[in-house]
Amino acid sequence: MSDTSNADPSLYQSQYGHFINGEWVTGDSGKTIDLMNPFNAQVLSHIAAGNSRDVERAVAAAKNAFGSWSQSSPNERQELLVEIARRLKNRLEDYAMLETLNNGKPLRESLNFDLPQAIGQFELFAGAAYHLHGETLDYPDAIGLVHREPIGVCAQIIPWNVPLLMMASKIAPALAAGNTIVIKPAESVCLSIMEFFREMGDIIPPGVVNVVTGYGADVGEPLVTHPDVRKVAFTGSVPTAQKIMQYASRNIIPQTLELGGKSAQIVCADADLEAAVEGATMSTVLNKGEICLAGSRLFLHESIQEEFLARLKVSLEDIRLGDPARIETQMGPQASVMQRDKVSSYLELGLEEGASVVTGGSRASGAGLDQGNFIQPTIFSDVSNDMRIAQEEIFGPVTCAITFKDEDEVIRLANECNYGLAGGVWTQNIGAAHRIARGMQTGTVWINRYYNLKSGMPIGGYKQSGFGREFCFDVLNHYTITKSVIINLQDGPMGMYAQ
Ligand code: NAI
Ligand code: MG
Repeated sequence: MSDTSNADPSLYQSQYGHFINGEWVTGDSGKTIDLMNPFNAQVLSHIAAGNSRDVERAVAAAKNAFGSWSQSSPNERQELLVEIARRLKNRLEDYAMLETLNNGKPLRESLNFDLPQAIGQFELFAGAAYHLHGETLDYPDAIGLVHREPIGVCAQIIPWNVPLLMMASKIAPALAAGNTIVIKPAESVCLSIMEFFREMGDIIPPGVVNVVTGYGADVGEPLVTHPDVRKVAFTGSVPTAQKIMQYASRNIIPQTLELGGKSAQIVCADADLEAAVEGATMSTVLNKGEICLAGSRLFLHESIQEEFLARLKVSLEDIRLGDPARIETQMGPQASVMQRDKVSSYLELGLEEGASVVTGGSRASGAGLDQGNFIQPTIFSDVSNDMRIAQEEIFGPVTCAITFKDEDEVIRLANECNYGLAGGVWTQNIGAAHRIARGMQTGTVWINRYYNLKSGMPIGGYKQSGFGREFCFDVLNHYTITKSVIINLQDGPMGMYAQ
């Protein structure tokens, strides 16, 4: 297994421009941004720091391409998505390595989670191209036709935590529905995405997908406020989403927003503790906790709390931190220095708020770790649900354990949160499982297996976790607009004004 320090340089280019109208073009500003390897602080590549003039070109290309792409046959759109999936499978190891190099996620996760999930999005929506049919409604004196049309040029802004999967979940349904796209990946992590478009450039009709890289405000504001953009899809933080909504208000365009969470993972007294400990471990360390769906509030029934925390401590202390490009590594570094510092500040805050550290609690150092943004997998106990560490998204390998006494209390506490993206329930009691799941104000509940992602199941938020559902056919409603055509079956005038 290769080290990141001597990663095969033929996997990627040292520089990428914007991908506009099927061509790679230099950015207007001439400025670039470094893509870093968070394991060893080495520069991997450079991307263009985009501006409003780059956005202008990209939107013009997308608008121009919309005419023919919106009229393309379902077969043509299906073929594109199938071919993309096929090429991703052919180079699965390469793309997994690119994701790992730039994001720091362990290769075992990129190989077994990110890539299969991303490929799954193209396969899912390849099938949808033929199923965008509208409806007919019958009346005694009329026929109603509801047509479904593509909405137009879509702006898509995505984050750095699962870049390839985010890109796939955004472009696959938009393409299936016949839209054209300008996508802005995150400025810190997008190597896999740039390489994806370098490889797929020959099969994407010019202008159908355009990529403009750069800092959020520089690209995001001109993109979302552009009068030719008809829809925005965003995944990221609440403060940025609030700006996106303001931008979207300029031209009254619809939004889908997916904004993270502070999901409750509830372990009842009768739970299979071995499985639940594995779930809590995974929820803490998968993608170093940089996952919107993480079950970062761990509610433990008072009767099992002590045993559970003892077992979880052992499990987390066994996690192998190290070079994410080595297959044996189980947890890598935080994706950026900014993210590492944000997580560190919450580790300090937890102590100030009176929580206790069960395990972890600081940056990880030692052999092979010192150049990277490593944080120890951390469990806080003695947490009350109203502490900031229990309410704010930390986006790191930090889980807060909170004690509960009964079902009503845990449902109330789980819902005392501004977020509502996911959640978990561990119990052998089927009635309790369903009562709790129904009571939770959240978009997804996993019973007896956390992160049990199933292709086609909707993902999306309640409350400040956003709105709109993705990863499912529901999302096609966001990428289409309906038109009602009513055909009168009666001859002659109605006689309204007959004397
Ligand atoms: P962010 O929301 O600022 O960044 C996400 C995307 O939005 C990036 O492509 C960024 O360039 C873009 N962006 C930033 N400012 C923008 C603007 N004014 N207009 C248009 N686009 C803009 O998130 P950030 O700052 O990277 O991370 C901060 C926190 O947000 C994380 O610690 C985490 O808690 C949360 N987050 C949640 C994610 C999720 O999956 N829901 C993903 C990433 C971050
Ligand atoms: Mg930000």
